[in-house]
Amino acid sequence: TATVIIFIFLAYLIGSVSSAVLICRLKKLPDPRVHGSNNPGTTNVLRLGGPQAAAWVLLADLLKGTIPVYCAYWAGFEPVYIGLVGVAACLGHIYPIFFHFKGGKAVATSMGAMLPLGMDVAGLLVGCWLLVVALSGYSSLAAIITALAAPVFTYFIKPEYTLPVSMLGCLVILRHHENIARLYNGTELKIWRKFSMNK
Ligand code: G3P
Repeated sequence: TATVIIFIFLAYLIGSVSSAVLICRLKKLPDPRVHGSNNPGTTNVLRLGGPQAAAWVLLADLLKGTIPVYCAYWAGFEPVYIGLVGVAACLGHIYPIFFHFKGGKAVATSMGAMLPLGMDVAGLLVGCWLLVVALSGYSSLAAIITALAAPVFTYFIKPEYTLPVSMLGCLVILRHHENIARLYNGTELKIWRKFSMNK
Protein backbone atom coordinates (compact mmCIF):
# COMPACT_ATOMS: atom_id res chain seq x y z
CA THR A 1 0.00 0.00 0.00
CA ALA A 2 2.99 2.35 0.42
CA THR A 3 3.48 2.10 -3.36
CA VAL A 4 -0.19 2.95 -3.91
CA ILE A 5 0.13 6.07 -1.71
CA ILE A 6 3.28 7.15 -3.58
CA PHE A 7 1.50 6.68 -6.93
CA ILE A 8 -1.50 8.68 -5.73
CA PHE A 9 0.76 11.49 -4.51
CA LEU A 10 2.77 11.54 -7.77
CA ALA A 11 -0.45 11.51 -9.84
CA TYR A 12 -1.68 14.52 -7.84
CA LEU A 13 1.63 16.34 -8.51
CA ILE A 14 1.49 15.56 -12.26
CA GLY A 15 -2.15 16.69 -12.37
CA SER A 16 -1.11 19.94 -10.65
CA VAL A 17 0.95 21.08 -13.64
CA SER A 18 -1.46 23.52 -15.27
CA SER A 19 -0.65 23.13 -18.94
CA ALA A 20 -3.12 25.85 -19.96
CA VAL A 21 -1.32 28.43 -17.80
CA LEU A 22 2.16 27.30 -18.91
CA ILE A 23 1.33 27.10 -22.63
CA CYS A 24 -0.36 30.53 -22.56
CA ARG A 25 2.70 31.94 -20.79
CA LEU A 26 5.01 30.33 -23.36
CA LYS A 27 2.96 31.62 -26.29
CA LYS A 28 2.47 35.06 -24.70
CA LEU A 29 -1.31 34.66 -24.65
CA PRO A 30 -3.61 36.13 -21.97
CA ASP A 31 -3.73 34.22 -18.66
CA PRO A 32 -6.70 31.82 -19.03
CA ARG A 33 -7.40 32.08 -15.27
CA VAL A 34 -8.41 35.73 -15.58
CA HIS A 35 -9.61 35.99 -19.20
CA GLY A 36 -12.49 34.47 -21.15
CA SER A 37 -14.32 32.06 -18.84
CA ASN A 38 -11.44 32.32 -16.29
CA ASN A 39 -10.87 28.57 -16.68
CA PRO A 40 -7.43 27.09 -17.39
CA GLY A 41 -8.56 24.47 -19.90
CA THR A 42 -8.66 23.56 -23.58
CA THR A 43 -11.95 25.36 -24.35
CA ASN A 44 -10.81 28.65 -22.85
CA VAL A 45 -7.39 28.47 -24.54
CA LEU A 46 -9.23 27.84 -27.83
CA ARG A 47 -11.14 31.01 -27.09
CA LEU A 48 -8.05 33.03 -26.15
CA GLY A 49 -5.35 31.64 -28.41
CA GLY A 50 -6.88 29.55 -31.19
CA PRO A 51 -6.77 25.88 -32.17
CA GLN A 52 -3.01 25.26 -32.11
CA ALA A 53 -2.48 26.40 -28.53
CA ALA A 54 -5.69 24.56 -27.51
CA ALA A 55 -4.45 21.33 -29.12
CA TRP A 56 -1.25 21.44 -27.02
CA VAL A 57 -3.26 22.03 -23.85
CA LEU A 58 -5.61 19.16 -24.74
CA LEU A 59 -2.69 16.78 -25.38
CA ALA A 60 -0.86 17.73 -22.17
CA ASP A 61 -4.01 17.51 -20.02
CA LEU A 62 -4.96 14.13 -21.51
CA LEU A 63 -1.46 12.78 -20.76
CA LYS A 64 -1.70 13.99 -17.13
CA GLY A 65 -4.51 11.47 -16.73
CA THR A 66 -3.24 8.72 -19.02
CA ILE A 67 0.38 8.41 -17.81
CA PRO A 68 -0.29 7.85 -14.07
CA VAL A 69 -3.18 5.45 -14.79
CA TYR A 70 -1.14 3.41 -17.27
CA CYS A 71 1.76 3.25 -14.80
CA ALA A 72 -0.59 2.03 -12.04
CA TYR A 73 -2.00 -0.57 -14.44
CA TRP A 74 1.50 -1.77 -15.41
CA ALA A 75 2.44 -1.89 -11.72
CA GLY A 76 -0.36 -4.45 -11.32
CA PHE A 77 -2.63 -2.42 -9.01
CA GLU A 78 -6.20 -3.53 -8.37
CA PRO A 79 -8.92 -1.64 -10.32
CA VAL A 80 -10.01 0.44 -7.32
CA TYR A 81 -6.42 1.69 -6.77
CA ILE A 82 -5.90 2.37 -10.48
CA GLY A 83 -9.12 4.39 -10.28
CA LEU A 84 -7.88 6.34 -7.25
CA VAL A 85 -4.69 7.22 -9.15
CA GLY A 86 -6.87 8.66 -11.95
CA VAL A 87 -8.98 10.57 -9.41
CA ALA A 88 -5.76 11.96 -7.83
CA ALA A 89 -4.53 13.25 -11.23
CA CYS A 90 -7.90 15.01 -11.72
CA LEU A 91 -7.80 16.48 -8.19
CA GLY A 92 -4.34 17.84 -9.03
CA HIS A 93 -5.74 19.44 -12.17
CA ILE A 94 -8.70 20.91 -10.26
CA TYR A 95 -6.73 21.97 -7.13
CA PRO A 96 -3.12 22.37 -8.35
CA ILE A 97 -0.54 22.68 -5.58
CA PHE A 98 1.73 24.69 -7.92
CA PHE A 99 -0.97 27.22 -8.92
CA HIS A 100 -2.62 28.34 -5.68
CA PHE A 101 -5.11 25.43 -5.84
CA LYS A 102 -7.02 27.20 -8.66
CA GLY A 103 -7.31 24.76 -11.54
CA GLY A 104 -9.65 23.61 -14.27
CA LYS A 105 -12.63 21.32 -14.73
CA ALA A 106 -10.77 18.06 -15.48
CA VAL A 107 -12.64 17.21 -18.69
CA ALA A 108 -9.46 16.35 -20.63
CA THR A 109 -7.60 14.89 -17.63
CA SER A 110 -10.48 12.58 -16.70
CA MET A 111 -10.81 11.59 -20.36
CA GLY A 112 -7.07 10.83 -20.38
CA ALA A 113 -7.48 8.77 -17.20
CA MET A 114 -10.25 6.75 -18.87
CA LEU A 115 -8.35 6.11 -22.15
CA PRO A 116 -6.62 3.01 -20.70
CA LEU A 117 -10.09 1.44 -20.24
CA GLY A 118 -9.80 0.63 -23.94
CA MET A 119 -10.80 1.93 -27.31
CA ASP A 120 -14.45 0.87 -26.94
CA VAL A 121 -15.12 2.97 -23.81
CA ALA A 122 -12.88 5.82 -25.04
CA GLY A 123 -14.49 5.79 -28.48
CA LEU A 124 -17.99 5.96 -27.00
CA LEU A 125 -16.98 8.86 -24.73
CA VAL A 126 -15.32 10.87 -27.48
CA GLY A 127 -18.28 10.08 -29.79
CA CYS A 128 -20.74 11.24 -27.11
CA TRP A 129 -18.84 14.51 -26.54
CA LEU A 130 -18.61 15.22 -30.30
CA LEU A 131 -22.29 14.39 -30.84
CA VAL A 132 -23.47 16.78 -28.11
CA VAL A 133 -21.18 19.54 -29.39
CA ALA A 134 -22.44 18.96 -32.94
CA LEU A 135 -26.10 18.99 -31.86
CA SER A 136 -26.00 21.76 -29.24
CA GLY A 137 -22.80 23.72 -29.86
CA TYR A 138 -22.02 23.79 -26.11
CA SER A 139 -18.69 22.30 -25.02
CA SER A 140 -19.73 22.43 -21.35
CA LEU A 141 -23.02 20.57 -22.00
CA ALA A 142 -21.05 17.96 -23.96
CA ALA A 143 -18.71 17.49 -20.97
CA ILE A 144 -21.62 17.18 -18.52
CA ILE A 145 -23.55 14.64 -20.62
CA THR A 146 -20.37 12.64 -21.31
CA ALA A 147 -19.57 12.63 -17.57
CA LEU A 148 -23.07 11.23 -16.91
CA ALA A 149 -22.72 8.62 -19.67
CA ALA A 150 -19.21 7.48 -18.65
CA PRO A 151 -20.26 5.25 -15.68
CA VAL A 152 -23.05 3.72 -17.80
CA PHE A 153 -20.69 2.79 -20.67
CA THR A 154 -18.12 1.54 -18.15
CA TYR A 155 -20.70 -0.57 -16.30
CA PHE A 156 -21.46 -2.51 -19.49
CA ILE A 157 -17.89 -2.82 -20.81
CA LYS A 158 -15.49 -2.77 -17.81
CA PRO A 159 -17.79 -3.12 -14.73
CA GLU A 160 -14.89 -3.33 -12.25
CA TYR A 161 -14.09 0.34 -13.00
CA THR A 162 -17.64 1.71 -12.57
CA LEU A 163 -16.98 3.21 -9.11
CA PRO A 164 -13.83 5.22 -9.97
CA VAL A 165 -15.34 6.35 -13.29
CA SER A 166 -18.44 7.54 -11.38
CA MET A 167 -16.13 9.53 -9.09
CA LEU A 168 -14.48 11.16 -12.11
CA GLY A 169 -17.91 11.95 -13.57
CA CYS A 170 -19.04 13.56 -10.29
CA LEU A 171 -15.90 15.72 -10.13
CA VAL A 172 -16.40 16.97 -13.70
CA ILE A 173 -20.10 17.74 -13.15
CA LEU A 174 -19.48 19.55 -9.82
CA ARG A 175 -16.81 21.69 -11.52
CA HIS A 176 -19.34 22.77 -14.13
CA HIS A 177 -21.79 24.39 -11.68
CA GLU A 178 -21.22 27.85 -13.18
CA ASN A 179 -21.67 26.49 -16.70
CA ILE A 180 -24.89 24.74 -15.58
CA ALA A 181 -26.21 28.08 -14.26
CA ARG A 182 -25.28 29.79 -17.55
CA LEU A 183 -26.89 27.02 -19.61
CA TYR A 184 -30.03 27.38 -17.49
CA ASN A 185 -30.09 31.19 -17.93
CA GLY A 186 -29.33 30.93 -21.63
CA THR A 187 -26.09 32.90 -21.21
CA GLU A 188 -23.61 30.11 -22.02
CA LEU A 189 -21.66 30.78 -25.23
CA LYS A 190 -21.50 28.23 -28.01
CA ILE A 191 -18.13 26.70 -28.78
CA TRP A 192 -17.76 28.19 -32.26
CA ARG A 193 -19.07 31.56 -31.17
CA LYS A 194 -16.65 31.50 -28.26
CA PHE A 195 -13.92 30.79 -30.75
CA SER A 196 -14.88 33.39 -33.35
CA MET A 197 -14.99 36.00 -30.54
CA ASN A 198 -11.27 36.25 -30.77
CA LYS A 199 -10.98 36.72 -34.50
O1 G3P B 1 -13.62 21.95 -20.81
C1 G3P B 1 -14.29 22.84 -20.02
C2 G3P B 1 -15.60 23.12 -20.72
O2 G3P B 1 -16.49 22.08 -20.47
C3 G3P B 1 -16.15 24.43 -20.33
O3 G3P B 1 -15.17 25.41 -20.48
O4 G3P B 1 -14.10 27.61 -20.41
O5 G3P B 1 -16.50 27.41 -21.12
O6 G3P B 1 -15.89 27.05 -18.74
P1 G3P B 1 -15.43 26.95 -20.15
